[in-house]
Amino acid sequence: MTLLKNIFATLRAYALTLLDAVVALFSLIAVTARALVAGEGTLKERLVGALTRPSSLIAICAIFRAVAPNLVIGKRLITSYDNNGTAFVLRATDVIEVLDREEDFAVVYEPKMRAITGGPNFFLGMQNTAQYQHDTSLMKLAMRRDDVEALVTPLARARAEAYASAFPKRIDLPQELTLRVPAAIVSDYFGVSAQAETDAIQWATSLFWWLFVDLKGEPAIETKALMAADELRKAIDAAIAARKASGETKDDVLGRALELQKGAPEFDDLAIRNNLIGLVIGAIPTISKASVQALDQLLDRPEALAGAQAAAVAGDEALLGAYLFEALRFNPVNPVIYRRANRSTVIAANTFRARKIPEGAMVLAANLSAMFDPLQIDKPNEFRVDRPWGNYILWGYGMHTCFGAYINRAVIPAILRPVLARPNLRRAAGAAGQIDVSTPFPQHFVVESD
Ligand code: HEM
Repeated sequence: MTLLKNIFATLRAYALTLLDAVVALFSLIAVTARALVAGEGTLKERLVGALTRPSSLIAICAIFRAVAPNLVIGKRLITSYDNNGTAFVLRATDVIEVLDREEDFAVVYEPKMRAITGGPNFFLGMQNTAQYQHDTSLMKLAMRRDDVEALVTPLARARAEAYASAFPKRIDLPQELTLRVPAAIVSDYFGVSAQAETDAIQWATSLFWWLFVDLKGEPAIETKALMAADELRKAIDAAIAARKASGETKDDVLGRALELQKGAPEFDDLAIRNNLIGLVIGAIPTISKASVQALDQLLDRPEALAGAQAAAVAGDEALLGAYLFEALRFNPVNPVIYRRANRSTVIAANTFRARKIPEGAMVLAANLSAMFDPLQIDKPNEFRVDRPWGNYILWGYGMHTCFGAYINRAVIPAILRPVLARPNLRRAAGAAGQIDVSTPFPQHFVVESD
């Protein structure tokens, strides 16, 4: 009986995956045909535009989940980090497996982290070592979980209200709101202020771009990032020196780190600086991009937009968050998380989709695909606000899960609430009302209201 049940479950899983792929294939054909017939630009531009839309990427993932869920190719697609080939991992259980097996699938960022700090590694570039545990433990004492409710969310709410109220009918979100609130968190809660708010935004954006997005290793991006790193190091050094000189005991991340230093002399000023650098880079461009992409997805779905707006008007940030994070599932900031195989190993062992991953291969764990895998997610193509939080892989999974995970969940609804509460919220006409994609981090996206 159990054997029969297992056979039935396996067949059902294949049927579900196949059906999902067929539907995805038809939707992809329709989108491509529409773009070719009615789009703007050359044929190639129209085709690339159609196929790189988030909805098309979701469809492509669905097709590959059915035909080649763990695909290994000899070509190096990411050339900015050492590797000797590429593996794509698409099923939810396999994505989780890659991110859980950090001994076999290692983070690759160490050389760039060292270049940014001017020496030591930062914990996102570390394996599960004593140093990783030391640094994350101290930083968790400096950046406490209960700060999210007590300090960070009230700060984000107040700043979002103030910034948004200066642009009551028409707002360019990144410039006037979504970059500014995380920059305020960095200065007022982390305790790291730049001479100008725009400096911190620019440094963090350049560094994030170089570390995580520049997959081809463009020299111009590297040069800009290394200059930004130098400036950021100086700004943090200055913040530490000023705090020490003033004798001020402020209850923020820097203040707590300096307190901790008294009992942990190895956590010297340089170590504090290096840990703060990583947090600053992580915080600004990501929160802004996530806010912009979530709102963009809502604007494409009138019913969901109406629900989110009602939650915003009622001041129900938990429900608003459910709308925003579901929207972000359809276009997350990081659709893929990459690792490098430390040794030759097998993924999805003892299944029909088991694949050998060669040592040195770059493994692209597609969390976007995982969040649409019908074997894990109930009716994944529907927009729903009742999904369990565990369905979302919006900022990593496993040991390196985002350090700001709790901040993100609280702050993104707080940032967007004042705008979503506006009557007749809509995109501005023309290109201004579409996310500006000229760089990986949206600089412009204008919405209007009555
Ligand atoms: C919506 C906004 C954010 C997104 C989408 C995001 C995304 C991510 C992702 C995908 C990872 C895992 C990287 C990997 O495993 O290779 C990560 C890790 C990390 N993030 Fe974020 N992040 C966000 C906000 C923040 C904030 C606000 C901070 C600072 C408070 C931050 C600091 C970090 C750090 C330090 C790590 C490394 C954690 C570790 O190695 O244990 N991030 N983030």
